[in-house]
Amino acid sequence: MPAAGLGLRLGGGLPKALRELGDVPMLVHALRSLLAAPGVGAAVVAAPPDGVADVRGLLARELGADAPVTVVAGGATRQESVSLALAALDGDCPVVLVHDAARPFVPVGVVEAVVAAVESGAPAVVPALPVVDTVKEVAAEDGAERVVRTVDRASLRAVQTPQGFRRDVLAAAHAAAAPGGDTTDDAGMVERMGVAVTVVPGSEEAFKVTRPFDLLLAEALLAKRRA
Ligand code: CTP
Ligand code: MG
Repeated sequence: MPAAGLGLRLGGGLPKALRELGDVPMLVHALRSLLAAPGVGAAVVAAPPDGVADVRGLLARELGADAPVTVVAGGATRQESVSLALAALDGDCPVVLVHDAARPFVPVGVVEAVVAAVESGAPAVVPALPVVDTVKEVAAEDGAERVVRTVDRASLRAVQTPQGFRRDVLAAAHAAAAPGGDTTDDAGMVERMGVAVTVVPGSEEAFKVTRPFDLLLAEALLAKRRA
């Protein structure tokens, strides 16, 4: 679980994964959502590098000292954070999920669908939703933007996490990627190796908290779930 980002688009000073939703840091919600899936046995969190001890303490308090969660220092980019977490995985796990801490409310059904698809032979799996807005390609022109073309939305998908992989496939993709790279989509790295990526249905509840508006949505969803 990459959780080391600064959350610059959200603002507010605190690393995004540590921002609270209903008095609990987003990271805790995300871990609970993931660990609620029977197919998930353990998690490795890539925490903000200067906050590893604090995050260990937080998770011991919130999830219990014996929760199957390891915390390592994340990196300067998401790609690096995922690589560092992958390196800390223990020996026996042929299937690996990569899940953003910034998607705190992914439903168990989505997690299970991703795990099931990898277990039934897909080397890489992404949950995705159809794109609802009309999408246009634009180009800069005289300080403004001009439409180049309208993309056919029917074949477009907005991709979420958790993305699931055969562990050897994800490890190979990270090993092949440029070390200083900033790829924010693990499946994209696997695609570049020529590996097929399978799509399963995502969920609106798996949305990523990116901008301040998303916090409103997250708080509303949490209130509804707790009601
Ligand atoms: N992430 C990470 N390490 C980084 C950057 C991002 O582990 N160096 C994680 C974030 O913590 C988040 C996930 O990757 O859980 C998705 O990234 P994003 O939504 O872009 O989060 P931030 O990078 O924190 O936000 P921003 O890009 O607005 O700064
Ligand atoms: Mg980011």
